[in-house]
Amino acid sequence: MKKPDYHILMCASFRGLEAKGKCIKKESMQLINYIEEELQDRGLNAMVSSTGCLKLCEEGPIMVVYPRGDWYKNVSDESTVDEILDALEEGTVAKAHLLA
Ligand code: FES
Repeated sequence: MKKPDYHILMCASFRGLEAKGKCIKKESMQLINYIEEELQDRGLNAMVSSTGCLKLCEEGPIMVVYPRGDWYKNVSDESTVDEILDALEEGTVAKAHLLA
């Protein structure tokens, strides 16, 4: 694998060894496989990683896209992921879901 152009982080709510935060309770991890499939289908040179709690639980699930550093809130379904990945492909941001 060559170095990815984009690195997507999805909050998996870990605090220490336990997933105690809210994102995982809002099913953030159910979206990981979908994101990976979409990245492949879209031909994006990107990888997705799960993270510890990103300390914005009330706004979760939180998803972050680097290197742009766009933080997205309430990423809880496939249609929201689609909007974010559409924006990534277009070189824009999905403003409706952007964390202020
Ligand atoms: S559990 Fe995701 S921000 Fe805290």
